[in-house]
Amino acid sequence: MKFQVYRFNPETDAKPYLQEFDVIVERGMMLRDALMEIKRQDESFAFRHSCGEGVCGSDGVNVNGSNRLACITPLSEYQGDLVIRPFPGRPVIRDLVVDMTQFYAHYKEVNPWLMRKDALPEQEILQSPEERDRLDGLYECILCGCCSTSCPSFWWNPSKFRGPQALLTAWRFLADSRDQATDQRLDDLEGPYKLYRCHTIMNCVQACPKGLNPTKAIGHIRSLMLKNSI
Ligand code: FES
Repeated sequence: MKFQVYRFNPETDAKPYLQEFDVIVERGMMLRDALMEIKRQDESFAFRHSCGEGVCGSDGVNVNGSNRLACITPLSEYQGDLVIRPFPGRPVIRDLVVDMTQFYAHYKEVNPWLMRKDALPEQEILQSPEERDRLDGLYECILCGCCSTSCPSFWWNPSKFRGPQALLTAWRFLADSRDQATDQRLDDLEGPYKLYRCHTIMNCVQACPKGLNPTKAIGHIRSLMLKNSI
């Protein structure tokens, strides 16, 4: 199988280019296996990966125009040449390695932890099965960034729009019966950009390797904001 791979070393290259690699694809191979083979062929090739199990979220790349997690992307899904690029809209550090600083800053800005007004109890705070069920489809995010970096609103307003990942996380805590900071969380998302720059393009839903739905979460936040304002 032929791979056209994005190469750019800012220290030596005047501009990015695509380099072709041939990889013998065996049954059951994932894209990460092919990238590791390419690395064996050319040691200077750079990409991130770690767990190999779709857990750490470090090996997101753009494959034929779609963001995918390399370690859980079977090569059997593809026919013909593959074009592998870094995540769109992020500054390239080298080859497929991009700078995710802005993405993590937005995650931090939504306070991704439970906030309580009451004193912490001696024992754990109980939830009913129904309250716990509300967190399904929200807590599973692995912060790979496939969603936010596939979002045109995030490309155009990376410092102002929180992006699908951070907003999914914001809803994960707003939806949690143990959290007591609803007003603060909603106030933090006020304004024309942080939340409302989502134009329901829904690239995020297609890109999420965990099958999560950030657009739906954003809709829930908007509804809650509206409800709380009247
Ligand atoms: Fe950890 Fe792919 S290597 S998610």
